[in-house]
Amino acid sequence: MSYDRLLSPIKFGAVELPNRVVMAPLTRARCPDQIPGAMQQTYYAQRADAGLIISEATNISESARGYVYTPGIFTDAQEAGWKQVVDAVHAADGRICLQLWHVGRIGHEMVHPDGRKPVAPSALKAEGAQSYVEFEDGSSGLHDTATPRALETKEIPDVVEEYRQAAVRAKRAGFDLVEVHAANAYLLQQFMATGSNQRTDAYGGSLANRARLPLEVVDAVIDVMGADRVGIRLSPFIEIFGLSDDEPKAMAFHMAEELNARGLAYLHINEPDWAGDDIQLTDDFRQAMRDRFADGALIFCGHYTAERTENLIADGLGDGAAFGRPYIANPDLVERFRRNATLNEPDPSTFYGGDEHGYTDYPRLDDA
Ligand SMILES: Cc1cc2nc3c(=O)[nH]c(=O)nc-3n(C[C@H](O)[C@H](O)[C@H](O)COP(=O)(O)O)c2cc1C
Repeated sequence: MSYDRLLSPIKFGAVELPNRVVMAPLTRARCPDQIPGAMQQTYYAQRADAGLIISEATNISESARGYVYTPGIFTDAQEAGWKQVVDAVHAADGRICLQLWHVGRIGHEMVHPDGRKPVAPSALKAEGAQSYVEFEDGSSGLHDTATPRALETKEIPDVVEEYRQAAVRAKRAGFDLVEVHAANAYLLQQFMATGSNQRTDAYGGSLANRARLPLEVVDAVIDVMGADRVGIRLSPFIEIFGLSDDEPKAMAFHMAEELNARGLAYLHINEPDWAGDDIQLTDDFRQAMRDRFADGALIFCGHYTAERTENLIADGLGDGAAFGRPYIANPDLVERFRRNATLNEPDPSTFYGGDEHGYTDYPRLDDA
């Protein structure tokens, strides 16, 4: 089968993509000092023929962190590290977007040198969720999340400001786009979901109130980048990390309409079954999102193959797909799709942490 639609160009706002094969954001936890370095330059540059690379989730501040060895974008050294990654991707003719991350309650005081508590919409523990911490003896591993502290209303503008500053640094580092991570049960989705948000101020209660923080963040990032260089990731219906929501569909529709009105470059939906949930999105839902987010690019993610994406585009339900695990194991994924070649299998034991092994040493077709 040939994938003419998948391999055809598209615009994400101001950015021209040569194809619709997007590299999904993938945390790899290989930045012990929170600064991307030479290994990250090699890894991302190897994948530069993706239509667009979306970076691993990147902490916008110290409070935003829930996992050790993940990179940040809140110090000069982190910004300089990212600039070198961006330069390496651009030198290889690629395009790269930074995913802005705040974990909210998926954290633990052990992650922070000053022992600060994780913050969240409400002081409700993420049941069954784990944070990645460093223990006193220097070893690292998963640890149950801590009960968070509810953000005070007067602190919320500071959180928005952290996103804005992160976008300022992303722009200076040369990123083509910025993606607001409002998916996967992290801070912004914790605000949107009824199960994690029991606030009684302007950021809780009604659907519009629960959407307020994510939209304020989007507006702040738009102020910096321009709407045509901003995307967002949502994961309606997802139930990982103890998240529950009584109104996921209504929230998804509301967000799609609000984001469309703002002229956002793209909307990225991570489907709920990617992490083992049995809930599956229907084509009716995808179509309803397409109708509401009519002007920007719409992409989906989670168990997509080249064939499935080709059909998605042909059916008018989306403009492309992001590929996660396939990109871990196939630096030349676009070329493999073009040649209809078999894919390398990813090794989950090297997903998080470690060194070049399982990171920059997956073979390309031409190595064979
Ligand atoms: C190792 C690993 C790390 C991930 N890190 C992130 C991340 O940093 N940000 C994010 O939004 N999603 C993250 N995800 C989810 C992926 O972006 C993607 O949604 C998921 O893997 C489903 O796509 P796939 O079936 O093509 O792998 C991660 C997934 C994996 C397997």
